[in-house]
Amino acid sequence: MSDQSAFDTDVWTLTRFVMETGRKVKGSTGELTQLINSLLTAIKAISSAVRKAGLAHLQGMAGQVNVTGDDVKKLDVLSNDLVINMLQASFGTCVMVSEENKEIVITPKDKRGKYVVCFDPLDGSSNIDCLASIGTIFAIYKRISEGEPTVQDALQPGKEIVCAGYALYGSATLVALSHGAGLNFFMLDPAIGEFILTEKNVQMKKKGKVYSLNEGYAKYFHPSINEYLKHKKYPEDGSEPYGARYVGSMVSDIHRTIAYGGIFMYPANEKSPKGKLRLLYECNPIAFLIEQAGGLATTGTQRILDVKPESIHERVPFVVGSSDDVNEYISFVKKYS
Ligand code: AHM
Ligand code: MG
Repeated sequence: MSDQSAFDTDVWTLTRFVMETGRKVKGSTGELTQLINSLLTAIKAISSAVRKAGLAHLQGMAGQVNVTGDDVKKLDVLSNDLVINMLQASFGTCVMVSEENKEIVITPKDKRGKYVVCFDPLDGSSNIDCLASIGTIFAIYKRISEGEPTVQDALQPGKEIVCAGYALYGSATLVALSHGAGLNFFMLDPAIGEFILTEKNVQMKKKGKVYSLNEGYAKYFHPSINEYLKHKKYPEDGSEPYGARYVGSMVSDIHRTIAYGGIFMYPANEKSPKGKLRLLYECNPIAFLIEQAGGLATTGTQRILDVKPESIHERVPFVVGSSDDVNEYISFVKKYS
């Protein structure tokens, strides 16, 4: 006898969730819903491509370097094309910023809508060949200009985000999404090709037990960072030392930080005076989601979401995680600066 009772006949898919959220907004036109649904199609296709990478020989270089000088892999190119094409097909965008495009991408006139999307189509691409988890990150804003869209539409501080999220292509494919009223997790059910709501209104622990950064740069860190790390490894207050975890693929490191608590850091160092991570499509969306989960995100001296961008690919020192942990880090910055 088959177990029909185990089959949810009123399941909350991400599409349903996005539609319901949209309908609650007074005067909403459905444009954002359409945009997010198109983006989800791109994410499902990327997920499928990532899973098939080995078989389809998609790994390896495409013979290009991206605007920040990193090697571009074939999967990056494919993911970027997918996101841009699906977003333009949604009729919801006017300007896009992608890690893979030097300039802003302006949507053709006949397909334009009122939203701006900043995204990293495939973050952590140096991990593709070793099969570690990688991800897609995005932030959506409303345009601020009238007439022809301009770069100013993309240079808004993160606090203006309308909706942000990431997809993690891990042991399962997950989407974390927030419209500014809490953070929700959705897991891809490959059987029906839909993301299913698995965790609602996610809240992080106030304090974790793990620190996460590339400590190989310690030689080049400011003393405040090394003092903070020393305190995590040799606490003098009788508490246990923190564990260390670092995948080197931000979406994985961030997802673990949200799930278990703790702190993730990519601070400045002498060789990278503004750190490595990009404000518009890496730090801002993650900062928005972390704050929605009760955590904090800082440059060390300023809230990430308050930083006014000056250029589309700018970098920023990035420290995020459980509120007590981030506040403790800030206190070290103050003490040693
Ligand atoms: P990418 O956008 O080229 O993939 O670079 C971003 C990645 C992040 O996912 C990760 O946190 C960081 O680079 C790791 O950098 P490092 O190797 O310097 O520790
Ligand atoms: Mg990236």
